[in-house]
Amino acid sequence: VNYLDSINTDDRDPLLVSMRAQAEKEDIPIIDRESGRLLRQLILFGRVDNILEIGTAIGYNAIRMAKIDKKIHVTTIERDAAMIKVAKRHINSADLADRITLIEDDAVDLDTDTLNGPYGLIFIDAAKAQNITFFEKFEPLLAKGGLIVVDNVLFHGLIDKQKDPSKNDIESKNLKALVEKIDRFNRYVMQRDDYDTAIHAIGDGLCVCVKL
Ligand SMILES: C[S@@+](CC[C@H](N)C(=O)[O-])C[C@H]1O[C@@H](n2cnc3c(N)ncnc32)[C@H](O)[C@@H]1O
Repeated sequence: VNYLDSINTDDRDPLLVSMRAQAEKEDIPIIDRESGRLLRQLILFGRVDNILEIGTAIGYNAIRMAKIDKKIHVTTIERDAAMIKVAKRHINSADLADRITLIEDDAVDLDTDTLNGPYGLIFIDAAKAQNITFFEKFEPLLAKGGLIVVDNVLFHGLIDKQKDPSKNDIESKNLKALVEKIDRFNRYVMQRDDYDTAIHAIGDGLCVCVKL
């Protein structure tokens, strides 16, 4: 356990602790602790009460966000049947079925008219090659002054590696292509002047875009 994790008291909820242990054991990617803390502060500071998440996995972050305040409603989208099953079980055992709506669909195909926006926060955490697609598809549902947050934008340090010829030893073609796509999103979002965007080098890289 690192120093910050050892002194922070925000991640001691027994259900969340056991879910994180399960995710680690089964190699399921969930939000990093540090990024989770920043997200929590953004939600509190912005008094966000309606949240859309793309990519539920086992429901860790959806539950974590819903537990911040009783006013919060989270809509979360997941396409993988095995994940959906586990997420439902966790949401029920957290007694949060009334404040977490799990949409069982592919976020690429989903009809956005079925969603109850506007959302104060849209958290994009699904297939990383599709960040631009998700950003453009869901941003019409964002409230003015709202946030779009995208996780893993530095992708285990690989973006930095691929962009520096002296460090670049990535061999897999698929991985290279994925890194290119994440880099394309990062550049795209930085150039959108209707958002104030900062990429924070915490966790796996957290991109925070404030709608102006
Ligand atoms: C990184 S995990 C999500 C972790 C979760 N947000 C958390 O922090 O607890 C990504 C999830 O997105 C799902 N996913 C990927 N592409 C998707 C898509 N197009 N539509 C819906 N879900 C998708 C995957 O099945 C996977 O479970």
